[in-house]
Amino acid sequence: MRNFKKVVLAYSGGVDTSACIPYLMNEYGVEEVVAFAADLGQGEELEPIRKKALDAGASDSFLDNLIAPFIEEFAFPAIRANALYEGKYPLSTALARPLISRRLVEIAQELGADAVAHGCTGKGNDQVRFDIAIATLAPELKVLTPAREWDMSREELISYGERYGIPAPVTKKSPYSIDLNLLGRSIEAGPLEDISKAPPEEVFQLTSSLEEAPDIPQEIEISFESGNPVAIDGITMDPISIISKANTLAGKHGFGRIDMIENRVVGIKSREIYETPGLLLLIKAHQEIESLTLSSDVLRTKLTLERQWADLVYQGFWFSPLKNALDGFINCTQKDVNGTVRIKLYKGSANVIGRQSLTNSLYFSDYSTYTSRDKFEHKSAEGFIYIWGLPCRLWAHSKRK
Ligand code: ARG
Repeated sequence: MRNFKKVVLAYSGGVDTSACIPYLMNEYGVEEVVAFAADLGQGEELEPIRKKALDAGASDSFLDNLIAPFIEEFAFPAIRANALYEGKYPLSTALARPLISRRLVEIAQELGADAVAHGCTGKGNDQVRFDIAIATLAPELKVLTPAREWDMSREELISYGERYGIPAPVTKKSPYSIDLNLLGRSIEAGPLEDISKAPPEEVFQLTSSLEEAPDIPQEIEISFESGNPVAIDGITMDPISIISKANTLAGKHGFGRIDMIENRVVGIKSREIYETPGLLLLIKAHQEIESLTLSSDVLRTKLTLERQWADLVYQGFWFSPLKNALDGFINCTQKDVNGTVRIKLYKGSANVIGRQSLTNSLYFSDYSTYTSRDKFEHKSAEGFIYIWGLPCRLWAHSKRK
């Protein structure tokens, strides 16, 4: 038994984090557990979750709406970075963890708590993200992780909870593990563990199936200012509304489903299904406007750094010095990223069909044209290629000898 006066717990309302409350009091000698739940645009009523923590024995329970910082400070930088982990996953779950950690640390400091706690297991990525974020923001703060220590099966956990007033899940337990926020849904487990089989249609909620998607394509326009999406179809919107609108449009046409085998930080491969319609659509449009407005060398350098940025965020290093330095590079490039991208949504696809930048386009039609307006100096190419290709010429020469 260790002794703690006050501990702030990152609380989701599920059986695991609920069981953490009596467990922290019984096994860690915590006097007061304060629960904190974050509204990240899950789209469900969270007040019952706040109450549930109190029923499970929490001395206090907070619910914070963090949707605006989530989108502005976490999702928008990910769009500017075109962040796709292993080339596919736009980090919808991973982006939420540093924000929850930051608020958890703030509450712990405001309340003068001895420690913070989370209910992540020892096998996932989220424990890595919480632990490293908290350690970076408040290295002196202790992190308690009951779910990494207790050795209880799901059934044991449920009956442990029942002894402390935590109701067993009433609805027939879904076989899936789901993480949800305004950026999308992550779905694992159950039938998805048969990785050779297609995901059952029942796992999807934000995106239409190909059959349900409209038979008529829809063309939309997404506008960017300094790398941030600011308008859809000419209508300027705040960041939360842009994401919501992009979710609705892409979701309706069945765009934004990902089925991937990913490499977790702890070394295992797992299969995850993602539905991230809006975020994926906005990244796609952002990549396109960058292709028009960034010079080729900046674009190439950024491409390699983007992968590193996504790795860092996936692996828990949101607040790290390297991630900060990469942000410096990325943000410096974004002042030129202004313009509008035209996309056609149709039956699971989102294809770019046009782009325009009135202020920053590096496409000069009098250089690229095939007509007589052409200003390109064709004669110059000869000398250029002679020198550019000289290493090959000399190498071939040496082989002749
Ligand atoms: N694999 C994703 C990540 O590490 C999502 C994790 C949560 N997934 C879930 N189904 N509960 O970011």
